Amino acid sequence: MDGARLISSCQSVSGGSHKQAFGGTPERREDGESVREAVKEYYGKVLKSSDDLKTNVCLLKPKKMSPRLREAHSHVHPVVLSKYFGCGSVFPDEMEGKRVLDLGCGAGKDVYVLAQLVGEGGCVVGVDMTEEVLETAREHEEWHKARFGYAKKNTEFVKGQLEALDSIESLAEGSFDVIVSNCVVNLTADKGAVLKGIFRLLKEGGEFYFSDMYADRRIPMCLQKDTMLWGEGLGGASYWGDFLRFTRQAGFVSPRLVSSDRISIRNPEVAARVGHIQYFSAVYRLFKAAPGSLESSEEDYGQAVVYKGGVEGAAEEFSFDAQNSFVKGRVVLVSGNTWTLLRTSRFARHFKFIGDFSTHLGLFDPKKPGETVTPFTVAV
Ligand SMILES: C[S@@+](CC[C@H](N)C(=O)[O-])C[C@H]1O[C@@H](n2cnc3c(N)ncnc32)[C@H](O)[C@@H]1O
Repeated sequence: MDGARLISSCQSVSGGSHKQAFGGTPERREDGESVREAVKEYYGKVLKSSDDLKTNVCLLKPKKMSPRLREAHSHVHPVVLSKYFGCGSVFPDEMEGKRVLDLGCGAGKDVYVLAQLVGEGGCVVGVDMTEEVLETAREHEEWHKARFGYAKKNTEFVKGQLEALDSIESLAEGSFDVIVSNCVVNLTADKGAVLKGIFRLLKEGGEFYFSDMYADRRIPMCLQKDTMLWGEGLGGASYWGDFLRFTRQAGFVSPRLVSSDRISIRNPEVAARVGHIQYFSAVYRLFKAAPGSLESSEEDYGQAVVYKGGVEGAAEEFSFDAQNSFVKGRVVLVSGNTWTLLRTSRFARHFKFIGDFSTHLGLFDPKKPGETVTPFTVAV
């Protein structure tokens, strides 16, 4: 039977109407505990290295890895590198001295890269619920401290569930500058709870910068119930439109897509099972702005910014998201939201801000009213 027929019979199991199907989306599974147990089994016992995955997600390379990032990766222990199960690059700019949290840190590859980007004055906390991966991460803490030449370690690994971040005592409300996560949110059983927990932990002006897998449609319940597909990220991936709605409900009013890649499924049986569903890996950045300071649409107040340079690795041009890139010295018109996000973020000192909110001129880009940048329009 071909993939298309498999999926259509699968869809009839989950219920045909939009409303029924929506009740069974991967954002909130009723059986959260069994979802988590299956994920622990998959990452703790089944997968031994990135080669065991059935998709190419771990092979997706950032378009151009900066020399700084390449060097930082060269200082990560090979065992930790071999147990990397991420799907993108979660290393935003301007990290020196920052307090960072990595959710679903696994064996710690990204924690150890970030530990170098924040320097000895910053710190990186990794959270994961799977004992085996935390063990690998912790076993290599001293090795990395010595390798980085730090007098004291700037990493910490904590066991916990992402759906219940507020129950992890060592994570204080409003205490993180940046929270990252690499291919994890799709595995969680209650995405709304995860996003609300993240919003609570961020400082105002801080951001959640994360890579994850998305689908071009809602995943039918029978595919969600397949524990291997869920473990691979194919069962729990959100339809991107639903996910954006969840981010806004959690308080992240102006989500920004940074980059996106098409995922290919290497295993023919798995490809047949998911049929026509298309998957993408995308990096989003979600800023926690002051309450009421952002609007639900991009509006034009005639404001502009000038990038002064100074972000490490971005001497001539700073890329903020898929739509906003700033050449040093050039006056660039921006929406009210982009102006506010930059002004209240850690990047503010590198910009000159022109204008205010006194005169409203309509939608920011009247040529494309309502057009949404999606992982599918940006993917290469
Ligand atoms: C795809 S792996 C990614 C690991 C790591 N970010 C990396 O890039 O190698 C997913 C990780 O998230 C963890 N995880 C999944 N769901 C979780 C949850 N609900 N709470 C805590 N950790 C979770 C798993 O234990 C696993 O280590």
